[in-house]
Amino acid sequence: MHHFIFKDNELYCESVAIADIAEAVSTPFYLYSSATLTHHFNTFDKSFGELPHLTCFAVKSCSNLAVLRLFSTLGGGADIVSGGELYRSLKAGVDPRRIIYSGVGKTEEELRYGLVSGILMFNVESEQELDRLQQVAEEQEMVAPVAFRINPDVDPKTHAYISTGLAKNKFGIPMEQAENIYLRARDMKNIKILGVSCHIGSQLTEISPFTETLHKVKLFVKRLESLGISIKYLDLGGGLGVRYQDEKPPHPQEYARALKEEMQDLKCTLILEPGRVIVGNAGILVSQVLYTKQTGTKNFIIVDAAMNDLARPSLYDAHHDIMPVNRKADGAADKPFQKADVVGPICESGDFLARDRELPPFEQGDLMAIMSSGAYGFTMSSNYNSRPRAAEVLVKDDKFYVIRQRENYETLIRDESIPDFLE
Ligand code: LLP
Repeated sequence: MHHFIFKDNELYCESVAIADIAEAVSTPFYLYSSATLTHHFNTFDKSFGELPHLTCFAVKSCSNLAVLRLFSTLGGGADIVSGGELYRSLKAGVDPRRIIYSGVGKTEEELRYGLVSGILMFNVESEQELDRLQQVAEEQEMVAPVAFRINPDVDPKTHAYISTGLAKNKFGIPMEQAENIYLRARDMKNIKILGVSCHIGSQLTEISPFTETLHKVKLFVKRLESLGISIKYLDLGGGLGVRYQDEKPPHPQEYARALKEEMQDLKCTLILEPGRVIVGNAGILVSQVLYTKQTGTKNFIIVDAAMNDLARPSLYDAHHDIMPVNRKADGAADKPFQKADVVGPICESGDFLARDRELPPFEQGDLMAIMSSGAYGFTMSSNYNSRPRAAEVLVKDDKFYVIRQRENYETLIRDESIPDFLE
């Protein structure tokens, strides 16, 4: 469910015509619907009903301050993986007692920042990280709250680049090593054990890898409890998929029902770290056609957004639906659909947003919506080819707000300098 809908062949976000936003802010820009964000967050969070739980939005998926603020007003926490994400979350007003710090390579400085900020828990991923955290906490004369991220060796059945819970992946601690680490941590003066965590991958379209993982982690929690280590939080990570094309991911209610069943005989609070399922279909990328050309081999639609704006097609061969913002000629007999590649201005053949796609007849100047771009869209964008990053816009009802200005040439070189010897 989302709020990008056609009215009289014009694409709207809630009650705002997208063409009007393009006119005001130029292209390309990311566009989010606050109604969709709110609906998705609430649907997910409320699916867990009475089960003690905390929904910590995965900041990496969409980290604009306004988006983070919106979720925090809805009662959400944050799942962060860097000092930068902690900074953003705090600036956005997220309660530090609802912040979980995940990630395989936290620096000493980041550990200290998390500790003094009073976050809920560090998901520690190695014994060396534990030692470093103990040392940092001792220096600060504080006690660090921790969970250990377990690698359950479960196949999430998703793209290899976004599988994280297999034994060969860099994430987490193998179950068989984890028990000893818990026992060590129990005796550390500046460490307090609060939980067990895991995250097996992203864009999962089946429930069974989640329940299999939860089952394994549950047995592990029971084992810890038999050793006198009590566990307050069980963090199952994120990963629930969305529909980009023809995937049929489980509805959050179905997902929640399966997890609740598995949680029945545990007293822990369940922590969830959803990203994509909340923001994926709540955002689009709006671009404009610069040129079209037919080369004899292919039809190319050259647009002003590129792989630096949306990396997913180039990186994962990901599918994003393409829609015209004005459906004027859709399906008209004299202008049939045709197969085309949608490409950007970047100097690489890997710079495409869609390949061999049946599309309505886009013409120079037409606006194009690249759908389902809310998750891992802007946050993975770069300045490659010295392209200023796109603007971000949030719609609420009949108004739109620029929540991140488009970068300009000045911002591109702001932090660079020419050393003396070149002057
Ligand atoms: N928790 C942890 C520890 C994670 O590493 C991730 C995602 C999440 C939660 C949120 O997962 P989600 O609910 O969004 O699936 N760039 C890739 C996705 C990378 C996911 C990385 N970790 C993409 O565009 O598909």
